[in-house]
Amino acid sequence: MKDFISLHDYSKEQIEGLLKLAIQLKTELKNGIPHPLLKGKTLGMIFTKSSTRTRVSFEVGMTQLGGYPLFLSSADIQLGRGESIYDTANVLSRYLDGIMIRTYAHSDVLDLAKYASIPIINGLTDLLHPCQVLADLLTVYEHKGKLEGLKLAYLGDGNNMAHSLLYGCAKVGMDIAVATPAGYACDAEVVAQAKEDAKQSGSNVLLTTDPEAAIAGADVVYTDTWVSMGQEAEKAERLKIFTPYQIDAARFAQAKSDAIFLHCLPAYRGYEVTEDVIDGPQSVIFDEAENRLHAQKAVMATVMA
Ligand code: CP
Ligand code: NVA
Repeated sequence: MKDFISLHDYSKEQIEGLLKLAIQLKTELKNGIPHPLLKGKTLGMIFTKSSTRTRVSFEVGMTQLGGYPLFLSSADIQLGRGESIYDTANVLSRYLDGIMIRTYAHSDVLDLAKYASIPIINGLTDLLHPCQVLADLLTVYEHKGKLEGLKLAYLGDGNNMAHSLLYGCAKVGMDIAVATPAGYACDAEVVAQAKEDAKQSGSNVLLTTDPEAAIAGADVVYTDTWVSMGQEAEKAERLKIFTPYQIDAARFAQAKSDAIFLHCLPAYRGYEVTEDVIDGPQSVIFDEAENRLHAQKAVMATVMA
């Protein structure tokens, strides 16, 4: 695999291999064992959207692997002034050993990968957020001891998180139920592909508008902001429409009694989730955020080595 753009491109075995490597790198880090797998290599990190976790975890992860991370804000590079993706991909391929990009259009990342001779890692697009879901799967595995046969419920917007969770769960054999309001459903092509993958792995995919139907029997409860980056103008309307999909204590109690709560963060307490749930004993959001570091190191070490 040259790139890491979508979990749909990876096999179950490849995803399990990345998780295994992430666990190994995490254990080594905690035990002070250095692992300079990318010594002397440079990762360019293009951001046309804000970030806390992605920027810091990639930057720190690359440093821990013995390499050098180079932050490239679109406000500073010529891409932000209209230089083509073709020229950018060709030029950066002459300097760098890999590129992590966070941007709006998913097609821009596919174009970058098409024209670049170096690996491209998707750090979030409007369509997908695969690095987050790899970290999420690692977190679920650590807390539940397995992935196959578990059920994840996602309540909220049919956005990049919902899409990557559909792909990730379907690949590894986790059941997934996604509840979204009408008009905010997941992308039809992503759903169809996830259903195909789920057939292979023997898991179930449920799409519904009913939050109660989605959360029933869930081992993992997931939500994300109702207003993603780029949707700020729709905020007032969205906050009204999504209210029935809030995860409050009563809704969370409809999942299994030992369910864990996940959120990719940034979170907006009082909107998609209430404080008692996200800051409660079953929330593992900070383990999840930490695992971005370990999961992405596994990705970088795999595609850039
Ligand atoms: N979850 C996530 O990707 O966070 P950032 O937007 O802070 O990178
Ligand atoms: N859906 C959110 C995820 C942030 C990590 C967004 O795209 O803004």
